[in-house]
Amino acid sequence: MKKRTLVLLASFAVTSGWTAMASDGAAIYKSKCSMCHGADASGNTQMGKAMGLKDMGSAEVQKMSDADLSAVIAKGKGKMPAYGGKISDEDINALVKYIRTLKK
Ligand code: HEC
Repeated sequence: MKKRTLVLLASFAVTSGWTAMASDGAAIYKSKCSMCHGADASGNTQMGKAMGLKDMGSAEVQKMSDADLSAVIAKGKGKMPAYGGKISDEDINALVKYIRTLKK
């Protein structure tokens, strides 16, 4: 019984450690970006409307290159805050990948 508990604990530590280490674009988006861009990234929030946000799935945003998207996230643009230095490059890459999944 004791041994089994230990094995369970160990495998839990491995799985949870792995998720914490690998950058999860969707999770980072939810915690850092959705308050402005909206849970579905449509920009259809009060703040999004006030700031004139574009739908991230729209052709207008999707036509931006990965480098352009990374630059906006890292350096900011207008009222968009700069995230370079706050989140890792790996996180920014994960966010760009996540934005690609939103394509309509
Ligand atoms: C404080 C509100 C705010 C937060 C938080 C925010 N953004 Fe933005 N974001 C903006 C605004 C405003 C713009 C439009 C900037 C412009 O065109 O002047 C923008 C623009 C963008 C763009 C360029 C495409 C477009 O719509 O013009 C991308 C990509 C983007 N944001 C991604 C992100 C990601 C990823 C995060 C989370 C790490 C994030 N944003 C967090 C406000 C925000």
